[in-house]
Amino acid sequence: MYEIIDFVTDKNSRILDLGTGGGEKLLKRFPRNVLEIVGTDFSEAMIETANKNLALSGRCNVTFKIINNLDLKFPKKYFDVVVARNTIIDAKQIYEVLKPGGYLIIRGVDKFDCHQLKMIFGRGQACMDKMPISIIDYEALLNAGFKDVELVPLHVREYFKNIETLYKFLLKVPIIDDFSEENFDVKDFYKKELEFDKLEEYVSKNTTDKGIKLLRRYYGITARK
Ligand SMILES: C[S@@+](CC[C@H](N)C(=O)[O-])C[C@H]1O[C@@H](n2cnc3c(N)ncnc32)[C@H](O)[C@@H]1O
Repeated sequence: MYEIIDFVTDKNSRILDLGTGGGEKLLKRFPRNVLEIVGTDFSEAMIETANKNLALSGRCNVTFKIINNLDLKFPKKYFDVVVARNTIIDAKQIYEVLKPGGYLIIRGVDKFDCHQLKMIFGRGQACMDKMPISIIDYEALLNAGFKDVELVPLHVREYFKNIETLYKFLLKVPIIDDFSEENFDVKDFYKKELEFDKLEEYVSKNTTDKGIKLLRRYYGITARK
């Protein structure tokens, strides 16, 4: 994804990163030699963190703003590239703020991510969605008028050294949560505990020579205005 962003930008490009979080990945991985990068998030706390990270980064072409992805307050045809990593989108609004020929690049986590783990816990992110979010996004982009829309499934095997490291990881991420993209609430993001017996059941079925296996299902979408 970062290679694609590099490939489609140059020194005159303006990039918008929606739902940027604390801005860590943007500051580390987005190209330096561009005109402007704006990172947005509706969480005041995330933007506060992002601004602290920005001050430490020494980068000067980046700003962070509190903005809701569903209410994009930018001039029409302003950005050359819009990026949405693991966050909600409104295809029509993104279309409006992109220049003609501009790119939209999405990366997300799909319904069947960590499926076996979610089945053992009896719940999980996007588990109950009728349609995978990747397909919803894909259709929304076509309906908004985007062309060259490509959806790529990204299947990754991740390995954890032991049950404790997997447990700590699951406390920090929203995999074993019931929310979907439609009802995301940042205050529910961090859990305090999980059912350890259920995790043990998963571990007993997924321990390999390389460690405890977790099957991730991400997706990527590229599209042009
Ligand atoms: C899972 S985090 C992803 C952070 C970052 N993009 C990444 O991939 O590392 C989702 C982010 O989207 C933000 N978010 C969720 N819904 C949003 C909305 N409607 N408008 C703006 N930001 C939103 C959250 O505050 C959170 O920072």
